[in-house]
Amino acid sequence: MIPAIRGTHDILPGEVERWQRVEAVSRRLFERYGYAEVRTPIIEREELFAKGTGETTDIVQKEMYAFTDKGGERITLRPEATPSLVRAFVEHSLEQAMASPKIYLFGPMFRYERPQKGRYRQFHQLDVEVFGVSDPAVDAEVVDLAWALVGELGIANAELVVNSVGCPACRPAFGEALLKALGEDVTRLCGDCQRRAGVNPLRIFDCKVPQDQPIIDGLPHSVDYLCDACRDHFAAVERHLGMYGIPYRVSHRLVRGLDYYTRTTFEILAGNIGAQNAILGGGRYDGLVKQLGGPDRVGIGFAAGIERLVLAMPDGARDDGRRPLFVAAMGEPARESALALLRDLRRAGLEAHMEYEGRSIKSQMKRADRLKAAFALILGDDELAAGVVSVKDMTKGGQARVSRDAVVNHCRALVAGGQE
Ligand code: HAM
Repeated sequence: MIPAIRGTHDILPGEVERWQRVEAVSRRLFERYGYAEVRTPIIEREELFAKGTGETTDIVQKEMYAFTDKGGERITLRPEATPSLVRAFVEHSLEQAMASPKIYLFGPMFRYERPQKGRYRQFHQLDVEVFGVSDPAVDAEVVDLAWALVGELGIANAELVVNSVGCPACRPAFGEALLKALGEDVTRLCGDCQRRAGVNPLRIFDCKVPQDQPIIDGLPHSVDYLCDACRDHFAAVERHLGMYGIPYRVSHRLVRGLDYYTRTTFEILAGNIGAQNAILGGGRYDGLVKQLGGPDRVGIGFAAGIERLVLAMPDGARDDGRRPLFVAAMGEPARESALALLRDLRRAGLEAHMEYEGRSIKSQMKRADRLKAAFALILGDDELAAGVVSVKDMTKGGQARVSRDAVVNHCRALVAGGQE
């Protein structure tokens, strides 16, 4: 057997229904909030992420699946969707094409990380982005959408954390304050942090090395170094969140591991899924569209890890509303009629199954039980001669003979009745 690649996983029946639920719930929600779906390629030019996600991030430094293709071009499997969506926004002038540029995407992302529970090398995100609105009301709306999503999936014990990382006007002063506060301590930090201190001190907050944490916890807070405009913006975001009654905590450590963020950043953490507890993260990126060669347009969005949403969702007794039918045949002449009936049921929009191997009626009924069939439709020599089908109620017991001509409509009514 050739096993799947480390850090990748198959999504099998039994679990895939939870994925479908995440997709259906979020799609409905996104459309209510005015978003339209976009699908972009999984491969992109490496420079899109080097420039977009940022040269100093762990993603670009350590985690990209990048390679040279046969044409000599540097290609990467996308590690996140935001730069791709910005590229599509610019490349297709979505600002002109859409009444309101609000877009969403579902799809696989790739990061060469150390696999563990909730952390994969191929994982899946759902991602939303809004372009061109700088009003803090949209920050609160995006957070509200994220919070609604988590709520509609029934995820309990979720915690929302927010922060403001300022803008290019106030960030340099904060960077200097970090270096000043670190002073000599910088030499006691890990090698990665020493490098970060040189190129982008904000990235020190990404550090996971346990020995570094006491030093990092004592560092200044970005919210204390915001310029007036950023301070007003953050105050308005908090006011709106208060108005919506969304509970949150301000965390000064929440700078997020990507370079493009300005002002608002946020994450939602789940209480029940282990160490990789960030189910969703996002923020504002006011300079990214321009930086990637587009017009000077602001942006904000978030992405959720679908694996982590699925992990955090309650098990619950799931009634998926399916009411399958099972067609059983006794004897060879009945088998052909049963195949025709099976096809008629499916054409009429009903889920129907059959045993193809011509087994005994007992083993066919066992199969019907395993499939949780609501009704079994039995055809034997008697039924054929009389032009009827025996319809057996698999949950309540009891059996009725229904004419072959009427049986499809009869089943449709039975199935619809059971779903009320
Ligand atoms: P991110 O925080 O890097 O942000 O990823 C968002 C979410 O993807 C995380 O909260 C987590 O649930 C999931 N995730 C990330 N890495 C993995 C992994 N290796 N395995 C499983 N799940 C993972 C972004 O990607 C930004 N593009 C979000 C954004 C959109 N910001 C603005 N717009």
